[in-house]
Amino acid sequence: MSICVNVGMGARAYDIHIGQGLLDEAAQYISPFLERSKVVIITDSNVAPLHLASLTASLDFSSIEHVSLTLPAGESTKSWFFLNQTVNFFLEEKVERRDVVIALGGGVIGDLVGFAAAILRRGVRFIQIPTSLLAQVDSSVGGKTGINAPQGKNLIGAFHQPSLVLADIDVLNTLTPRDFLAGYGEVVKYGLLGNAVFFNWLELNGPALARGDTAARIEAVQVSCQMKADIVVRDETEQGDRALLNLGHTFCHALEAAAGYSDRLLHGEGVAIGCALAFEASARLGLCAQEAPSRVRAHLKTMGMKTDISDIDGELPNAVSLLELMGQDKKVIGGKLNFIMARDIGQAFVTSDVSTEVILSVLQDSTCPGAAY
Ligand code: GLY
Repeated sequence: MSICVNVGMGARAYDIHIGQGLLDEAAQYISPFLERSKVVIITDSNVAPLHLASLTASLDFSSIEHVSLTLPAGESTKSWFFLNQTVNFFLEEKVERRDVVIALGGGVIGDLVGFAAAILRRGVRFIQIPTSLLAQVDSSVGGKTGINAPQGKNLIGAFHQPSLVLADIDVLNTLTPRDFLAGYGEVVKYGLLGNAVFFNWLELNGPALARGDTAARIEAVQVSCQMKADIVVRDETEQGDRALLNLGHTFCHALEAAAGYSDRLLHGEGVAIGCALAFEASARLGLCAQEAPSRVRAHLKTMGMKTDISDIDGELPNAVSLLELMGQDKKVIGGKLNFIMARDIGQAFVTSDVSTEVILSVLQDSTCPGAAY
């Protein structure tokens, strides 16, 4: 039994199934998409030992032929080298235009395989089976695919929507608490950007959700996916509203770059800090009451999450250098940086009208331990 969120994109519409035990039942969801009984699976070295056997057992049971390629786990796999390896594997396995390939993994595998699927034979269909909370609520939905460049993250890519997403809530039990909470950063983002009721719900249910409450996890993934689906349907290629999904991300990308894209800062941790800073900046700009950033920070702290730059281990560049890194964000348009600011919890909006001094002061205070908010 699963809950279904439909991403209503006309001829390219697809379902996101959310529930327990979906890996064991994967073949029944995948079969309707197959024109011949064979799939190619790409996964990574962390996910394969945990989940590949469940998927292949389900495919075997339904007599669906399968082959798989296991890539190294980690952000550096989102590269030309592994894109090349993935595309070559598809070609060696004679993947045809009407075939389906499967991404079994977190955001790295989903983005890489989605991009490989987008360019192979000018586009083959792919199915996302996201195994991290971050991938279930964000990266597996909406069709952003790509790899990183030495100049920055996700700079090479394409919009290519999946044909199906299977979000098996049981796989979240295999995540470390740190990885789970990093994904939770993206969940909180949805409440903050457009759904105050959901944020209230997270304040009440977040701790249970982190402890493993399955019903709460299903609810959180469903609401997040529904919000993302609604936004993507309105603005697939980010000409407007979709930018709201980048709440906290301009701060986050600068912090990730400053931390050398290392495990000193996971992406979702950077998003959580970025959301706290975006709300702080919004309050200092007089856009929202100080109560809003205080609530954001209080909830993240209750969840045991990072809220400030000073929470990141090790040395980081100073606030001026961080501001420069923010200027390299790919959302710079005509030399002006676009920010997602907020009028209240659940009321985010896009603006380029943000004083650099305010951003600098927020960065400075967040960098100094003991800064008063
Ligand atoms: N992760 C932001 C987006 O999908 O637009």
